[in-house]
Amino acid sequence: MSLRVGVVGGGQLARMMIAPAVELGIELSVLAEQEGMSAKLAATAVGDYRDLDTVLAFARDVDVVTFDHEHVPQEVLRGLVDAGIAVRPGPDALQYAQDKLLMRARLDELGMPQPDWAAASEPAQLQQFLDGHGGRAVVKTPRGGYDGKGVRVVRVAAEAEDWFASLAEDARGGALLVEELVDFRRELSQQVARRPSGQMRAYPVVETVQREGVCAEVFAPAPHLTARLANAAAEVGTGLAEGLGVTGMLAVELFETTDDRVLVNELAMRPHNSGHWSQDGAVTGQFEQHLRAVLDLPLGDATPRQAVGGHGEHPGRAVLRPHGRAVRARVPGPPRREGAHLRQGAAARSQGRPRHRRGR
Ligand SMILES: Nc1ncnc2c1ncn2[C@@H]1O[C@H](COP(=O)(O)OP(=O)(O)OP(=O)(O)O)[C@@H](O)[C@H]1O
Ligand SMILES: [Mg+2]
Repeated sequence: MSLRVGVVGGGQLARMMIAPAVELGIELSVLAEQEGMSAKLAATAVGDYRDLDTVLAFARDVDVVTFDHEHVPQEVLRGLVDAGIAVRPGPDALQYAQDKLLMRARLDELGMPQPDWAAASEPAQLQQFLDGHGGRAVVKTPRGGYDGKGVRVVRVAAEAEDWFASLAEDARGGALLVEELVDFRRELSQQVARRPSGQMRAYPVVETVQREGVCAEVFAPAPHLTARLANAAAEVGTGLAEGLGVTGMLAVELFETTDDRVLVNELAMRPHNSGHWSQDGAVTGQFEQHLRAVLDLPLGDATPRQAVGGHGEHPGRAVLRPHGRAVRARVPGPPRREGAHLRQGAAARSQGRPRHRRGR
């Protein structure tokens, strides 16, 4: 019988697992939040992922449960584990992608390079941090942030007053995450796949360009990165995959600082928008790799194909468009040759029309 993977969440990441599932001969089912979502091609159930009974009923017919997003509550994840269901990544790992304060504390324990940070449950604590960091800081809501929502640069504590007020209204209390405002040269993303039995594969670290809080462009591999920093990024990625017990794909968002360090920004434990280039650009794309990893199958080769590695050391460039729009890979400089598009396979070196893909 075919292996069966159940994906909680019916968004575009689930959708993009469908093609590799077909190729691998895996049965993929999806628990979508509502009718008509991206992954409707495979949707077999519609229901609330916050409801344990709903997710348990969905999980009964699969070999492993994985995710399109990280919003499934810990109680539900733990309920699945208690019922003997393979959940990958599991709740112990996933908590660090769900809560940025937990992540910062754990990364300190693991000795990972990261920005100075503190938890602030009241404005005076934020002001104290500001006073110690040149009067500038980044304040984040620890949970539920995405696309830059829940991230704010502040100079005085009053600028986060509304967030402190919401904390006070929340019966659970809690705190905001405060970070030093990192002086970065650019942002990088390191992806690693890890199987439950321990095998790992690191992708080449890529450069990501965010516009209005959303990743708009990816350069793969990150152009002109020193070997020292590329190795440091890979070590952080594999160290975190192992140290946190991640199974499946892990993306580590990083800052490359102006003084030549890499610092961890945040984590995602699923395929990531910085890895779409790998669908055609690496021997094994991130969606196939995620399925392999969660099923504990041998991982595929994560090295870039010659085509996207392109002409010698010139990296490939994936231009990402909003949901459902074209994504293309092309050769940037140096020297920059605008309009020189890269295609896959044998046609890679001829200049044809850009290859369009759908996706985030
Ligand atoms: N400490 C920091 N110093 C400087 N810039 C920062 C810092 N933290 C975040 N940023 C900037 O804000 C962006 C969004 O931050 P972060 O990735 O934490 O938020 P998010 O909303 O969870 O992101 P995502 O869209 O990836 O889920 C980062 O990509 C970076 O450009
Ligand atoms: Mg981010």
